[in-house]
Amino acid sequence: MSKMTAPAVTAAKGTRKLAMLTAYDFAAARLAEAAGMDMLLVGDSLAMVVLGHEDTLSVTMDEMLHHTKAVARGAEKALVVADMPFLSYQVSVPEAVANAGRFLKEGRAGAVKLEGGREVLPQVRAIVTAGIPVVGHVGLTPQHVAALGGFKVQSKTAEAATTLLGDALALAEAGCFAIVLECIPAPVAAEVTKRLPVPTIGIGAGPDCDGQVLVFHDVLGLYDRFLPKFVKRYARLGELAVEALTQWGDAVRTGAFPGPEQSFSMAPDAQAAFLTGIASGAPTDSSAGGNT
Ligand code: KIV
Repeated sequence: MSKMTAPAVTAAKGTRKLAMLTAYDFAAARLAEAAGMDMLLVGDSLAMVVLGHEDTLSVTMDEMLHHTKAVARGAEKALVVADMPFLSYQVSVPEAVANAGRFLKEGRAGAVKLEGGREVLPQVRAIVTAGIPVVGHVGLTPQHVAALGGFKVQSKTAEAATTLLGDALALAEAGCFAIVLECIPAPVAAEVTKRLPVPTIGIGAGPDCDGQVLVFHDVLGLYDRFLPKFVKRYARLGELAVEALTQWGDAVRTGAFPGPEQSFSMAPDAQAAFLTGIASGAPTDSSAGGNT
């Protein structure tokens, strides 16, 4: 696979499904890259699964940038998409462009993602005009958790589904190269996918989206606080990790670790001289002898 770009993502619509996974550091980016992901999303979900907050509202620009830099260092072919955190783009259009730009300039991401429908069109247009590819995000938008009253399935009525379709079409028209559809009924996502000129990336939006995204820790079983219905775990690495760490802790306590393979030896004559020296009262202060 050659290096993934925003235009390549758009061009994939209708030809093949796209796989996007969140990643928050260098190690995860390397694993996701080796698994052939098309896109790595440095999601603001890092607030929850990495930093331990109860929602995504508290994560800052500086924290998102710190993690975006690490992911970008681990990504070779996958397109790195940085999530714009709460209040980094809602306050004003110039601030939105400046913050989006930091993700490319300092973070070395290839694109940004922001949440919202028609209310964020001025920001999307201005960011795209600045040469920064944008992914839209509609449906359940976790940065609105307070207004929504919790993490709930959206667009369940005909009226709400029609509004969502209008939002998605407007975002594509404004220049988004892909749009995340989160937690909406599968038939709504299917219809939006059919009518949009750009790929839809679903999470809890059924099988008919052009691609899918999941959170790294959810796919691998590394986060046990909350498991949404739309997640499928493909491994239980959290349980494996606890098992391995318990074994290591036990080995430390019994003295089985470290063994000879994990220890460094010393030349016998040097060891003998050392022991004889200190037994006969050799000075132990650092000024008395060199270390070379
Ligand atoms: O922050 C995130 O991980 C996301 C995905 C769930 C789409 O926005």
